[in-house]
Amino acid sequence: MKKGVRKAVIAGNWKMNKTVGETARLISEIKPLAEGAGCDVMVCVPFTDIFAALEAARGSGIKVSAQNCHWAESGAFTGEISAEMLADIGVEWTLIGHSERRQYFGETNITVQKRVRAALNAGLSVILCIGETLDEREQGITSEICALQLKIALGGVSAEEIKRIIIAYEPVWAIGTGKTATAAQAEEVCAEIRALLAKLYNTETAEASVIQYGGSMNASNADELLDKENVDGGLIGGASLKAADFGVIIKSASR
Ligand code: 13P
Repeated sequence: MKKGVRKAVIAGNWKMNKTVGETARLISEIKPLAEGAGCDVMVCVPFTDIFAALEAARGSGIKVSAQNCHWAESGAFTGEISAEMLADIGVEWTLIGHSERRQYFGETNITVQKRVRAALNAGLSVILCIGETLDEREQGITSEICALQLKIALGGVSAEEIKRIIIAYEPVWAIGTGKTATAAQAEEVCAEIRALLAKLYNTETAEASVIQYGGSMNASNADELLDKENVDGGLIGGASLKAADFGVIIKSASR
């Protein structure tokens, strides 16, 4: 990351893991690791864990995020949670557009755009996930796919609103596979994302934006990835479920 210009954000995406009891325990273990860290620390927890997470994180500076929200304010959408509902219980962040939502739950670029809009309208901040599949990378269209996902998701988002958005570059082929993008690959795409933000908004906005890398980031590869100028933190799945591993990544981002 570019020190002095941006502060790294290390976010754990717990996905569909951890009960309420486990949430309280894990956050109490993360607390001392996050104390005095040189980066921001966040946990993205299942809906059922949000209350416990907010309670456990109180006073620690650890931010609590949801993993998704619906695009409507309310209505006949059985099984869904609105951005208003999240804001109402004190949540300030939500993930949007995670590749697992796109892959398993029919999320499209358009529904991602609608969810981003709903989250911003409700006053939430967003970690917006984009990234190419293995097939797309092999076809040499990584830049185009990421640009398309980003442009559509940010359709209608103002220069003021983009301050409430973190972009997470997560190559789908690197998620949960143990196959990390090389630091050079991560840097290349994160730099392209920043250049696109400069084009869509302006240089100042692009320079201030936090762009994370996600996909098998762990205690052993975090240093190298976070050393890159345009990688401003990580969105971490598996390695965020154990405090010790997560702590090492927080340390890497704090150097
Ligand atoms: P893993 O770190 O388990 O590869 O997951 C990455 C991810 O999807 C974070 O959102």
